[in-house]
Amino acid sequence: MHFAGLKAIGEAVTIPLAYYDANVAGTLQLIQAMNAADVRRLVFSSSATIYGNPDYLPLDENHPTRAINPYGRTKLMVEEMLADIAAADPTWRIAILRYFNPVGAHESGLIGDNPNGAPNNLMPYISHVAAGLLPELAVFGDDYPTPDGTGVRDYIHVVDLASGHLAALEAITAGALPISTWNLGTGIGYSVLDMVRTFSEVNNVAVPYRIAKRRLGDVASYYASPDKARDELGWSASRNLADMCSSVWRFERLMRQRNA
Ligand code: UD1
Repeated sequence: MHFAGLKAIGEAVTIPLAYYDANVAGTLQLIQAMNAADVRRLVFSSSATIYGNPDYLPLDENHPTRAINPYGRTKLMVEEMLADIAAADPTWRIAILRYFNPVGAHESGLIGDNPNGAPNNLMPYISHVAAGLLPELAVFGDDYPTPDGTGVRDYIHVVDLASGHLAALEAITAGALPISTWNLGTGIGYSVLDMVRTFSEVNNVAVPYRIAKRRLGDVASYYASPDKARDELGWSASRNLADMCSSVWRFERLMRQRNA
């Protein structure tokens, strides 16, 4: 299972070479090492970002791919490289997993996302605000064509994401196809304000926010069709938004206690 890589879109625009090096060249080297060791089974972490601006929703695996930033291009390049490798040598068994928005932490509260500095992504930002480390959340736009005007995304609990990997690994091991692609999402879209409200209610904590300008490059709505994964892997996400929010807060509090 190949998880290594860089993943911040803003940073990728500033230092693209580091992204091509880590994500593309890194995978190339891994494939060469695997070939040399006669190991040809791989689960690759791709991203829903490669669908670009949606032509339609929900996004299924047949939606056209079009990377719109350097980060997305590295993921798309690797997907194309893997397709070529699988075509040339059908003994490969490759799963490409297109993640939607992974959030949440392990139930133990010991494994979670702890970004350095101010977080880029919504969930860690909410958690930092709730912990008093940041004064308020800036909600990037409330004039999108969505039910409450704020951006809608398909948030998936990291533990569901992990079980999706195990299901994919079993499927490629048992299956005959050299390469397969699956979305990993819930199929449910939540808005930024849904996230703030649920986090606040479930954890009984205040999350001050203000409405700010739209963030460059953001789309209104983005969510998966999880049907292919359900039909072919027998997998679907079972954890809801409340589970995601409570696990993040447990992780955040335990981490602060440990570091106090
Ligand atoms: C982006 C990438 C995705 C990547 C993910 C995690 C795209 C389309 N998506 O997702 O591929 O996997 O980052 O690295 O390229 N928001 C706020 N205030 C904040 C932060 C976010 O309002 O301070 C809003 C955003 O406008 C968006 C939603 O929250 O509507 C989610 O944002 P974020 O968590 O950054 O993820 P994406 O941009 O969807």
